[in-house]
Amino acid sequence: MITDINTVFANKMDGKELTVRGWIYRHRVGSAGSMVFAVLRDSTGVLQATIKKDKVDEKSWTDASEAYVESSVVVSGTVKKDDRAPGGFELVVDKFETVCKGEPFPIAKDLSEEYLLDVRHLWIRSQKLTKILQIRSTVIQSIHDFFRGRGYTLFDPPILSPNACEGKMTLFEVQYFQDKMYLTQSWQLYAEAAIFALGKIYDVAPTFRAERSKTSRHLAEFWMAEMEAPWMELAEVTEVAKDEIKFIVEKVLEKHEEDLKFLGRDVSKLKTVVSKPFPTITYSEVLKILKEKEGMDIKWGEDLRTIEEEKVMTHFDTPVVVTNYPVEIMAFYKPEDKKNPKTALCFDMLAPEGYGEIVGGSQRSLDVEDMKKRLAKEEGNPDDYSWYFDLRKYGSVPHSGYGVGVERVVRWLCGSENIKDAIAFPRTMNRNKP
Ligand code: 4AD
Ligand code: MG
Repeated sequence: MITDINTVFANKMDGKELTVRGWIYRHRVGSAGSMVFAVLRDSTGVLQATIKKDKVDEKSWTDASEAYVESSVVVSGTVKKDDRAPGGFELVVDKFETVCKGEPFPIAKDLSEEYLLDVRHLWIRSQKLTKILQIRSTVIQSIHDFFRGRGYTLFDPPILSPNACEGKMTLFEVQYFQDKMYLTQSWQLYAEAAIFALGKIYDVAPTFRAERSKTSRHLAEFWMAEMEAPWMELAEVTEVAKDEIKFIVEKVLEKHEEDLKFLGRDVSKLKTVVSKPFPTITYSEVLKILKEKEGMDIKWGEDLRTIEEEKVMTHFDTPVVVTNYPVEIMAFYKPEDKKNPKTALCFDMLAPEGYGEIVGGSQRSLDVEDMKKRLAKEEGNPDDYSWYFDLRKYGSVPHSGYGVGVERVVRWLCGSENIKDAIAFPRTMNRNKP
């Protein structure tokens, strides 16, 4: 019987004969050259295997004793309970076949971050990255489940766009036949067109920003999970965002508690997140907390920097929705809140423990003249947006949406130091290989 490694532990297969297909994770020849201790690895876990020279045929012994770390192997034997083995079981081998011996693996312990990024195509096999990528898969699955469960339709936006959505500064330009186009910064403008056909919609898609800063939370290529809904205003859309984030954390905890512990994550902090409501506060209230509790005097109208987000979040143990940022510093499509002049009907969600902004969204402006004025200030050409303004001409309705940064969420849940570990092949200002 061919078995995944985790099945051996899950079904406590003591005494069972089975075959495992995988790779060598660790390898040591011991007992005066008559024993090989190998740890086998597949996508589901690791399993200790012992090969005794006098218990296997000659070919098996040669293959087992000469294998390298990451040689691919097919190994058969009997499962034995052994409290000293990781997971409590080991495989006593009677047949060992190397499929590809290969060369000595170039990754050993204590290599620099930059070297591990150079050999990322091999490093993704590490237990750490494998588990993070599996958690990422669950995060994305739960985003689909959340929106499908609420009757949203998946809408795929174009990736090449003639327009900026989030300002000209971070656009990646692409030569498109005779024209210039840009890689998408957000699905938003197209989503605002699609809601008139499809109603409530969502997506998970690649997103590009030429971020020129080196931070632990910015990638040049990342995945954003966005939603847009007609007939929805700010108060309602912020609640959808809270429900979505809570749903994701619940699903990850359900499936990956052991993986999170392996990664060194304090799981109790995530359980707190699931058990409590997330507060909503305004930008002005953030300034008040910073002033009264942190002695930080931020001038009203200035954007919150990383340091301010971190400081204010030391007073919370769940994500917090912050609304009503100054309209002056917001994108052209975020309307002024008539009840709170000078502020916009917009929000960010900040993660606890200093992980920063994970969601950004807003109600959408319906005032074409105001948007034109603000675009001109951002050095955008209003003429390029005429198709977008058409949407306000034909049966316009109040609507709202937001985007979740997938890697930001994965980084927070896994407790990773850098966002680069939340994606398999990170793209940043200084890193475009492999
Ligand atoms: O706040 P942002 O810029 O919002 C928008 O793009 C809106 N048009 C979304 C919408 O309303 N449909 O980006 C949304 C989220 C951020 O909160 C952050 O989590 C993530 O996308 N994000 C990044 N993640 C990684 N690297 C970057 N450079 C990111 N820029 C934004
Ligand atoms: Mg934002």
